[in-house]
Amino acid sequence: MGTRPLLNQRLHGLGTTIFAEMSALAAATGSINLGQGFPDTDGPRGIAEAAARAVLDGRGNQYPPGPGIPELRQAVAEHQQRFRGLAYDPDTEVLVTAGATEAIAAALLALLEPGDEVIALEPFYDSYAACIAMAGAVRVPLTLRAPDFRPDLDRLRALVTPRTRLLLLNSPHNPTGLVLDAEELAAIAALAVERDLLVVTDEVYEHLVFSGAHHPIAALPGMRERTVSISSAGKTFSFTGWKVGWVTAAAPLVAAVRTAKQYLTYVSAGPFQYAVAEALRLPDDYYNGFRADLLRKRDLLAAGLTAAGFRVFNPEGTYFITTDITPLGEEDGIGFCRTLPERCGVVAIPNAVFYDDPDAGRPLVRFTFCKRVEVLEEAVSRLSRL
Ligand SMILES: Cc1ncc(COP(=O)(O)O)c(C=O)c1O
Repeated sequence: MGTRPLLNQRLHGLGTTIFAEMSALAAATGSINLGQGFPDTDGPRGIAEAAARAVLDGRGNQYPPGPGIPELRQAVAEHQQRFRGLAYDPDTEVLVTAGATEAIAAALLALLEPGDEVIALEPFYDSYAACIAMAGAVRVPLTLRAPDFRPDLDRLRALVTPRTRLLLLNSPHNPTGLVLDAEELAAIAALAVERDLLVVTDEVYEHLVFSGAHHPIAALPGMRERTVSISSAGKTFSFTGWKVGWVTAAAPLVAAVRTAKQYLTYVSAGPFQYAVAEALRLPDDYYNGFRADLLRKRDLLAAGLTAAGFRVFNPEGTYFITTDITPLGEEDGIGFCRTLPERCGVVAIPNAVFYDDPDAGRPLVRFTFCKRVEVLEEAVSRLSRL
């Protein structure tokens, strides 16, 4: 095979994700896994039954339409109108994808030329770096810093160059729990208009905001024609394995993203698309109950982590808590997370892996609270041994 590395240069350094490593460690040590963000109970029974019915009734068992089944595109458009006041044409402005993950990949592969610069909020969700790299583009981090993780908007303005093509946003933000407020979004939108930038916004935690509100940047002046909004069913309905996501955007943007998407998966999750169409139409009670449940769990885990000696940055949104381990006499999150399962039977994720500059996130560690109350209580009790 010669001496040339098998993995191409663009993907160099993007080895196994930390989630795989830590989940394997959780399994090997029998630890409670507060690393990866997936719930330990499934979503609504009626929605699972809708998926089963679709399979048995032969709906979606063969390739569904490329842009997604019309029922789901209609439901996504209704959801955007109902919760965000945004009107999208289900035929030309909605695209169903294999989770938000594929939507992110397709958007970046479609919209970027090699060498384009993408400004992204750092720490970033790990697929951003990989997809920017696969597109041959250059990522430019806007670092969010403890304790409040608010973006430095002057710094953002300074980062824009003639090569900047796109701002990649994520709010509510994984892993920090930041929710961009109306003022920050207005400033970002004004900059995007002024410098003629595209915006891709990952809003998969849109229904998990505990203080303030989720504001869609697509609703701001001049943004509709330059914003690709991404969300998915995984987090909101607790079916992360179904991988049903969607894009909403103006028709020319959707057409571009669809071009890339059709050569990634073409289509996916046929029967689940029918079930997610039903899920999106669940009454407000569902959405409110989901948020209230996670808020209770956030408070439980935050109190437990504080009692165990962590410095806790209470998240405004998402189902993650970022902590600082310095008060425990520790400074290296990666080393800490590698030994935590052995020390007390809990798995967490070191935030350093979400940074280009590992020093910026060195003492930070992320825990998820999307687990049953008794599991969180047991985790808290184990962590108190620290
Ligand atoms: C910020 C963010 N975006 C996207 C995803 C992936 O979404 P999906 O499972 O719909 O592909 C996740 C999952 O953890 C996430 O945290």
